[in-house]
Parts: sequence; structure tokens; C-alpha cells
Amino acid sequence: MPHVDTLTKKGYIDLLPDEYMVTVIAEGGPVVGKSGYMPAWSSVLSDQDIEDIVLFIRSLPLY
Ligand code: HEM
Repeated sequence: MPHVDTLTKKGYIDLLPDEYMVTVIAEGGPVVGKSGYMPAWSSVLSDQDIEDIVLFIRSLPLY
């Protein structure tokens, strides 16, 4: 079972490019070498939805 890290970890999430976040959310974990337990969301969420989610993740306080 993969360890899913927090999306608010300072020095980690802030170093991941927006394009990477969009890709992993849209296409799922294996496309970026991560776990297949991370589903692809492109059939559920629009491109705009995914951009909004990335902006939301960026708005969260880091710790
Ligand atoms: C819209 C909802 C979701 C978003 C925005 C999201 C976002 C992300 C992001 C950005 C990553 C990459 C993190 C990294 O590179 O370290 C990731 C990885 C992952 N996510 Fe999600 N996720 C969502 C839903 C889910 C769900 C429902 C599951 C499980 C049922 C899940 C399981 C995982 C796993 C297992 C990984 C890979 C961890 C690894 O291999 O290091 N995610 N997710």
C-alpha cells in the first residue's frame, strides 16, 4: 500500500510544478511513476475543474 503524503507539506508540494499536478490529477499516478491507487480524473473533471483544484491546493497553508 503506498504512503500518500499530505498535499500541504512545506518544501515538497511547493516544489511540484503546476503542470505535474495537472497531469497526475488528470491521468492518474502511473503516468508520473506513482501508485495506480491514484485514479485518473479526466473523465470526471473538466480541465477547468482540475486547474481550480490545483489553485485550491496552492491556497492551502503549508506546514
Ligand atoms: C480529486 C481528488 C484527488 C486529487 C486532487 C489528488 C491529488 C493527488 C496528487 C497531486 C498526487 C501526487 C502527489 C505526489 O506526487 O507526491 C496524488 C497521488 C496519489 N493519490 Fe491522489 N488525488 C485525488 C484523489 C485520490 C483518491 C480518491 C485516491 C485513492 C483512492 C488517491 C490516492 C493517491 C495515491 C495512492 C497517490 C500516489 C502516492 C505515491 O505513489 O506516492 N488520490 N494525488
